[in-house]
Amino acid sequence: MEKEIQYEFTELVKNNFSKISENYDQHSQIQKKCASLLVLGLDKDKKYNEILEIGCGTGHYTDLLVKKYPRSKITAVDISCDMLFRARNKISHKNVSFIPGNIEEITFTKKFNLITSSACLQWLEKPINTFRILSEILFQDGVAHFLIYGPKTYKELDEVLSNHLGKGGWVTARNFMSKDILQNIFQKYFESFTITEHILTETFSSLMDFFKQIKLSGTRGYGLDKKTYLGKNMIKQMEDEYILRYGGIVVSHQVYLCRAVKPKTKS
Ligand SMILES: C[S@@+](CC[C@H](N)C(=O)[O-])C[C@H]1O[C@@H](n2cnc3c(N)ncnc32)[C@H](O)[C@@H]1O
Repeated sequence: MEKEIQYEFTELVKNNFSKISENYDQHSQIQKKCASLLVLGLDKDKKYNEILEIGCGTGHYTDLLVKKYPRSKITAVDISCDMLFRARNKISHKNVSFIPGNIEEITFTKKFNLITSSACLQWLEKPINTFRILSEILFQDGVAHFLIYGPKTYKELDEVLSNHLGKGGWVTARNFMSKDILQNIFQKYFESFTITEHILTETFSSLMDFFKQIKLSGTRGYGLDKKTYLGKNMIKQMEDEYILRYGGIVVSHQVYLCRAVKPKTKS
């Protein structure tokens, strides 16, 4: 039963991104910022022969990796063929290969010197198992370098929705891994690691514009359940409350920059 629910969630995430892939580049300003932030933390002088990128989407971060490490072999994976198709059209570099698939299920026949991912791993269904596998396909002394969204993403919206609809947890991000959970996982598989939190903010001119952006960036997760309908009046009331509480339609994106090194002694 549990497996069936997990499978459905991954399918939902894949479909959400596939549906919006055509216009993702116009609606992913924050994801572009995330990719720039993540690549900044990578040392240009380091030599990574084999790089694995997880959840490459339409290739924002892949492009930055190619520019930073033009001699490295980059394997870029994404679960959505539609997203991957756009990345392939954007980046035609002989050292980059694109592979469709769910990172939680793919078996790799080689190891990597750098495993990296921007704005994808919060969607994992089985993070403990998946991070274990990732640590196994990392060479000793290899680096894991991730940007992962945290549970306070869209926290303002979650608070306003909870106030109007009752109980909390309307926003899927509330279930993303917290820093404590990530710390426990990294401790188990990597030993030496750092996790630093950043809050990136965006502002919208109306609540409807924010709702549209959630949809068009593929980040809606479950979205509201089918029984919950937000009428025009309700949206207006929520917008007024949102502005009163936060001084505008201000949106937080909580992100964790995670960097770990695989110890030489661990297999
Ligand atoms: C928010 S987008 C980020 C894309 C890109 N890294 C960027 O910086 O714009 C997240 C991507 O992760 C992919 N993804 C989600 N779950 C995945 C999984 N289990 N395996 C592989 N890719 C996955 C989605 O299809 C989507 O393209």
